[in-house]
Amino acid sequence: MNAKKLAVRVINMAGIVAAGALITGWERPRRREAVAAERQRAAENLELERRARQAEQAAAEERSRIARDIHDGIAQSLYMLSISLEACAELAAKGERGLDQRLTSLSRLSKQALLDARHYIFDLRPLQEGRASLSQTVQRQVEEFQTVTGIPAEVVVTGSESPLPLTASMGLYRIVQESLANVYKHADASCVEVHLAFQQGEVLLQVADDGKGFVIEGEHGGHGLSNLSERARELGGRLDIASGPGQGTCVTLTLPSPMTAAKSGNG
Ligand SMILES: Nc1ncnc2c1ncn2[C@@H]1O[C@H](COP(=O)(O)OP(=O)(O)O)[C@@H](O)[C@H]1O
Ligand SMILES: [Mg+2]
Repeated sequence: MNAKKLAVRVINMAGIVAAGALITGWERPRRREAVAAERQRAAENLELERRARQAEQAAAEERSRIARDIHDGIAQSLYMLSISLEACAELAAKGERGLDQRLTSLSRLSKQALLDARHYIFDLRPLQEGRASLSQTVQRQVEEFQTVTGIPAEVVVTGSESPLPLTASMGLYRIVQESLANVYKHADASCVEVHLAFQQGEVLLQVADDGKGFVIEGEHGGHGLSNLSERARELGGRLDIASGPGQGTCVTLTLPSPMTAAKSGNG
């Protein structure tokens, strides 16, 4: 009897040990998976934090760039406007000559400030959200230029448009913006044409005016033009400026575009 009880007990214990081993065997991989999942979550959180920091830094840089731009552009124009208006008031009070010329130049200056201001409020969301193509955006931009400045401006698009990466489209928009601002500020042009050509393997942008032109010195003189060259290089493209006294100015941007290459290659 005792031997029988002992045997039952031994069998029970063996059963318990076997079940324990079985459960541990199941549990171990599950625990390993849980630890791996936990590690992955931690890594994902770190990555999200890193991206958020990067986005914050980019936004801060953009803000200070805009502040600098406003300081050099609109704020400067408004300052000039305010002191020149005071001078005009004095001329008017004394009945002196030259008032009409002063007022004409002030009107130009105010349009320049308006053009600068419009640059910051131009709605780029349709382009960013893929609701408007690049050529439609440039068309709207050029129409606005014409409305503000009164200089006839036309957009010509050739080739079939393929969507560019957003960084390229945005860069191109900014190059049009600065080139048009230069036309208004410096060219004294009677018209301007913006040509957007989608050709095999590249996109070509030209902003050409028939104004007074200028002598190109060194790396394109001012900040605006060297910024344009730098922007073109960042996009993997090239910026060429053709100008000369009395010859008008043509700014040409050439950007490689693998998408137009694929399209042309297939058809
Ligand atoms: N379309 C243009 N027509 C005539 N002159 C121009 C034109 N674009 C640029 N320039 C000349 O090149 C200079 C440098 O231009 P830019 O680098 O944009 O600087 P900014 O516009 O601040 O003067 C201008 O001051 C002007 O003399
Ligand atoms: Mg400029």
